[in-house]
Amino acid sequence: PMPQYVKTAIDGAVGRIILNRPERYNALNRAMIREIVEAMEQFDRDETIGAIVLSGAGKSFSAGADIDEMVEATPITMELLDPFADWDRISRVKKPLLAAVHGYVLGGGFELALACDLIYATDATRFGFPEVNLGVMPGAGGTQRLTKRIGRTRALEWLWTGEQMTADQAERFGLVNRLVEADQLEATVLTVAHRIAAQPKMSVRLIKDAVDKAGDLSIQDGMEHERRNFYLLFATDDQTEGMQAFLEKRQPTFKGN
Ligand code: HXC
Repeated sequence: PMPQYVKTAIDGAVGRIILNRPERYNALNRAMIREIVEAMEQFDRDETIGAIVLSGAGKSFSAGADIDEMVEATPITMELLDPFADWDRISRVKKPLLAAVHGYVLGGGFELALACDLIYATDATRFGFPEVNLGVMPGAGGTQRLTKRIGRTRALEWLWTGEQMTADQAERFGLVNRLVEADQLEATVLTVAHRIAAQPKMSVRLIKDAVDKAGDLSIQDGMEHERRNFYLLFATDDQTEGMQAFLEKRQPTFKGN
């Protein structure tokens, strides 16, 4: 079926997913989350794609989960719907996910950005978790990912007050890779995405896999996992080519395997 709430596009080796519900500030209803995840998975399986860029149409990246859809929820309806099963699939995407965010990045919209690997924002972007103002709290990883990124004391202040963080604060706390002028956002992110997509694909893939382990494993277990990935890369043609090209003082030509 045609997606209703997202647009997708292919730009060379970069797959693009554009949240497209601008009249609601890209509020994320369940169907929309499923469309986002399915688009990610489709690009993840597409051998021609090396990186995935997520952005929002209109004034904002996303003002969060669709409140209209949650207002009647009960613990039982949510248990049966299991909406977070779709969110969990984002963590299994193996290719680089880049978020290009602007305007409001709130609640579930912030969680979606935090589920990406890299975040680029404009100077005027506002980040926040306003769930507390609605009598709830983040449910798609916000308390966990924000705390791991910026530390407990800062995370708790934002989660408890529901206040918005400025782009400068987000940059200072290491939440975003870079702040750029609004009219440069798309070009900047696409440049980074194309750069990564041109790198040896298995290196990029196993780097993400190893970095993800840093969050879960002890340093020793993480390093052993890293080592396995390092060894595995010696099975690729791109390793042979990369090292040969260096020794022959020429540019490598990578094939992606
Ligand atoms: C449903 C939303 C929405 C949302 C905006 N809209 N955010 N609808 N869910 N999260 C709708 C508004 O109702 C309005 O519809 C239209 O989008 C434009 O929004 P306005 O409020 O008129 O615009 P503005 O005054 O500019 O304010 C923008 C805003 C504000 C600051 C982003 O809309 C806002 O505070 N939104 C809610 C933010 C929020 O609480 N997010 C957290 C949701 S809970 P009409 O029909 O009136 O034009 C959450 C939990 C995550 O994310 C759990 C995991 C999934």
